[in-house]
Amino acid sequence: MFTSIILAAGMGTRMKSAMPKVLHRVCGKPLCKWVIDASKTAGADKTVTVIGHCADLVKAELSGETEFALQAEQKGTGHAVIQAMDHIKAAKGNIVILNGDTPLITAEMIQNAVEYHASSGNRATVITAVLPDAAGYGRIVRGADGGVLRIVEQKDARDEEKKIREVNSGMYVFDAQSLAYALGEIKPNNAQGEYYLTDTLEILLAAGKKVGAYTIEDNDEIRGINDRLQLSEAEKIMQARINAYHMKNGVTMRIPESIYIEAGVEIGNDTEIGSNVTLKNGTKIGSGCVVGQGSTLDNAVIKDNVNILNSVIINSTVGEHTTVGPFAYIRPDCTVGEHVKVGDFVELKNSTIDDGTKISHLTYIGDSDVGKNVNFGCGTVTVNYDGKKKYRTTIGDDSFIGCNTNLVSPVNVGKGAYIAAGSTITDDIPEGTLSIARARQINKAEWKKDRRK
Ligand code: UD1
Ligand code: CA
Repeated sequence: MFTSIILAAGMGTRMKSAMPKVLHRVCGKPLCKWVIDASKTAGADKTVTVIGHCADLVKAELSGETEFALQAEQKGTGHAVIQAMDHIKAAKGNIVILNGDTPLITAEMIQNAVEYHASSGNRATVITAVLPDAAGYGRIVRGADGGVLRIVEQKDARDEEKKIREVNSGMYVFDAQSLAYALGEIKPNNAQGEYYLTDTLEILLAAGKKVGAYTIEDNDEIRGINDRLQLSEAEKIMQARINAYHMKNGVTMRIPESIYIEAGVEIGNDTEIGSNVTLKNGTKIGSGCVVGQGSTLDNAVIKDNVNILNSVIINSTVGEHTTVGPFAYIRPDCTVGEHVKVGDFVELKNSTIDDGTKISHLTYIGDSDVGKNVNFGCGTVTVNYDGKKKYRTTIGDDSFIGCNTNLVSPVNVGKGAYIAAGSTITDDIPEGTLSIARARQINKAEWKKDRRK
């Protein structure tokens, strides 16, 4: 158990965004939320996020996930941590300090660092990495015995020190009391005139406390996002991680690089996800499904053995053994039953479609309640809008809707009713009745001759 402090008050200027950096998303989740979640999974019993730039937006997005400390003016990383310490006066044990812009951090790495810190008897442990190009980072200066002496910022470093490739990740584990003591001692005596958190290591060493470093292997863990290029690189890495997770759970992906799945999506085993598929917003897919090429599922719930091809499904549920598409559009608030067929160029909106119903082609069903085993001919339209209000259509079980029918709502079609092709239905149809609502055909044999005269 430990408390974590997440630094997220900075500007993020290089994003060139009206939105604060930490709210930009990787695989659907804000940068900062990845860090909060990793720290909770690693065992944090409390997290305090230091906010400043666009504080209200960050608060609104993350409310309930973390406590907040306000750093009104950004006077450095040490100053930021001081603001958070007010929230953890009673804190005993360890404090883990993380950055809000490193979404690729894992819970495992945090746990390992905390364990290393505890077993080494350190009062402070800085998490470090050896990078091929260390430019921009604070460098870890070690003594002749290999022990950490201090951290020097790029802007304050001498030429010798700039050659060091071991860098400060900006993440640390501190014993709470030692951190509180060291924060009280830091001074803004540096190139940037800031209160550097990094100075705490030297301060603790001077006070005779043990300080060390935990060096990570996977440098992605500490990758900070500063601009949109780095955002896209992080997205690529996260996408590969998420897709690998699903494949390990028994999901088939033939071209995983083309598949975009957000964090929090669930997929059952023996489901196949085709290329260029997008799965968003907590979509849940059962077992034995095929989500074919080019589909987008947004907050959809798909039960087992469903077959979807080239379709879009938003905020809706689809029952077992149903087929959808190609080119179907299921808009919000639909509940589609089992063994239903939603065929090509079919649009559904705010409707329930009960089991066994077939809507094979070129049909719009909006604001409707459709019973079981209904058959829709090609080109059925529910006329649900009169220019001011929307009305519902109800269609009873086992009815047969002929091709090119307009159902002018509000209207009820009784169970087992038949509608002749080309009808425009404006009145309710009683159970088991055939309804024909179109002009009779007239064949005029003499018409062509008459016109010539
Ligand atoms: C910091 C470290 C550097 C390390 C690097 C890793 C210091 C002095 N330097 O440098 O050794 O290699 O991180 O990325 O700590 N923040 C606040 N309030 C502030 C200043 C910063 O909340 O007043 C937050 C930022 O939003 C960011 C984090 O702290 O999430 C790091 O700040 P940043 O300015 O990026 O630090 P660096 O200069 O990169
Ligand atoms: Ca800086």
